[in-house]
Amino acid sequence: MRILVIGNGGREHALVWKCKQSPKVKEIFCAPGNGGIEELATCVNINPTDQDELLQFAKQMEIDLTIVGPEAPLVEGIVDLFESHELPIFGPRKQAAMIEGSKHFAKKLMKKYGIPTADYQTFTDAKEAKAYVQQKGAPIVIKADGLAAGKGVVVAQTVEEAEEAIDKAMEERVFGEAGAKVVIEEFLEGQEISLMAFVDQHTLKPMVVSQDHKPVFDRDQGPNTGGMGAYSPVPQIPSEVVQQAIDQILLPITKAFREENILYRGVLYAGLMVTSEGPKVVEFNARFGDPETQVVLPRLKSDLVDILLAVVRDQLEEQTIEWSDEAAVCVVMSANGYPYTYQTGDVITGIPEPSEKQIVFHAGTKKFEEQLRTNGGRVLGVTALGQNLLEARDRAYHVVKQISFSGSHYRTDIAAKALRLPTESKRSTD
Ligand code: AMP
Ligand code: GLY
Repeated sequence: MRILVIGNGGREHALVWKCKQSPKVKEIFCAPGNGGIEELATCVNINPTDQDELLQFAKQMEIDLTIVGPEAPLVEGIVDLFESHELPIFGPRKQAAMIEGSKHFAKKLMKKYGIPTADYQTFTDAKEAKAYVQQKGAPIVIKADGLAAGKGVVVAQTVEEAEEAIDKAMEERVFGEAGAKVVIEEFLEGQEISLMAFVDQHTLKPMVVSQDHKPVFDRDQGPNTGGMGAYSPVPQIPSEVVQQAIDQILLPITKAFREENILYRGVLYAGLMVTSEGPKVVEFNARFGDPETQVVLPRLKSDLVDILLAVVRDQLEEQTIEWSDEAAVCVVMSANGYPYTYQTGDVITGIPEPSEKQIVFHAGTKKFEEQLRTNGGRVLGVTALGQNLLEARDRAYHVVKQISFSGSHYRTDIAAKALRLPTESKRSTD
């Protein structure tokens, strides 16, 4: 088989790495890929949103399965386009991808079908939005309606901060048209988990649970990022809570899609807050999470390509999906300044050869004349497996310490919430 993976992040490196393990796969292409992916696949210089060029390429190379990594091509309808040319492609169609493409759409659907989520209101007028914030008080959450690369959400601790976020999104349009509409949400308190599932027309099969680390600094300080690290499993969240999330959130949302006559095929990602009232939806994504994929796929024992093909053919029900009991931890190394303006072009050294227990997934990297250099905000996802989280975490940080590039930054407390380490919570050691 010939596979095409669309995207250039750590998630796509993990997808390529896992597909490569399938005996079915002869050749993998990645558009555009990165400095790590090019070790495993042929990278082709096509932008993930250049649908026509991707279509021509897939036709020309007789691609048997295209896997879409990021949300933008899904929201723009790449799946619809490929399907209309009878090219097999993994991911939801445009209409279904709205679950991620519009927060207003997602919230409306959840409200209609009684799926637990934060109370909210949508605004297109900044004055009305501010009046609502003044009435509700802080903390409160301001979200740009459209796609904003994971940066369109502000958890405001004060009314002033909330008003500033409204001005930025609606008046200054720092996220462009994505901020013309804002969703203002009740603040949910608790621990977050990421629960992804494979979904076809008839069936939903959940993956193992993971936890992301959104803020840039230790102890969840600083601005939100695309994700600074992840781990799986998440032992402090009881399995009954995960089952509750499957029964009260994942299954009802797929039922809601069916009732609305929307066909959902692909990965459905639920970002959940485990509150004192049970799990509630923070967001839905229409794709694999990044960096969650970097810890979930290393725990997948089954052939990923078999699963993705089964989804595309609506045969997921017959597919057995097996997971390893091992734990996985991914520590993201980012460029100085990320998530704001950051430096690129720095030489990266010290990345060890992958082994059975560790692999460094590349994100913002590029090879220039055989030299690996930084080329993005999130640069590497150093991932390790272990018999338990402590072992996986120690192994991952051991590798992190061998790697260097100018201004590199990483969180030192990935997985600390699970391990109750002193860096995470003073109270647990007092
Ligand atoms: P989103 O892009 O909607 O996932 O939001 C980004 C991050 O903001 C989430 O992962 C949470 O950490 C935080 N967040 C979003 N909505 C809420 C909420 N209603 N209450 C508390 N935190 C939230
Ligand atoms: N890690 C969060 C996301 O993929 O949206």
